[in-house]
Amino acid sequence: MLCTAVSVLSFSTSLYAEDQSGKQTFATCSACHLATGEGIPGAFPPLTKLPDIFEQEGGKQYLISVVLQGLSGPITSQGNAFSGYMQAFGPSLSDSEIASVLNYVLTNVAKPSLDDSSPISENDVSIVRAKIAQGALAKSHTLRKALTAP
Ligand code: HEC
Repeated sequence: MLCTAVSVLSFSTSLYAEDQSGKQTFATCSACHLATGEGIPGAFPPLTKLPDIFEQEGGKQYLISVVLQGLSGPITSQGNAFSGYMQAFGPSLSDSEIASVLNYVLTNVAKPSLDDSSPISENDVSIVRAKIAQGALAKSHTLRKALTAP
């Protein structure tokens, strides 16, 4: 009984910790994409419809790729055109920070948000990071062309 209570407690503590770190890392993203994730038409695309991308085949890999290796080239999102440049955060953020920030966006910032509390794992990020290091992954812009953009 005591054992169960202790493990439940530590489980909820670790979920809380992950959520907090995703929220903290999101401060970096919200400088451009705004705290609401709505972005600025013509400058920074919205992050509110990322669950629509996540749910597609290759969508999870694409989202991880954007944070790890950045994104540049013309895209459209929710009817607005963007031709900007987002830097690569692979050198400055850990796999765990990248998983947490994407989970925070998918479950807290997106509208409607995903129900799954941690759709992206640290391991998912490390797999994509390794592919990039081996030169085995296309640029984010190429990956996006294979998806139906929201
Ligand atoms: C300095 C500004 C800036 C910061 C900081 C920034 N981004 Fe971006 N982001 C952009 C721009 C600009 C684009 C679009 C690039 C283009 O037009 O090709 C973009 C695109 C994206 C996309 C692709 C959206 C789509 O519709 O395919 C995602 C996902 C994303 N950013 C997530 C993040 C996350 C997560 C962070 C924080 C770790 C972040 N961004 C930080 C400027 C920024």
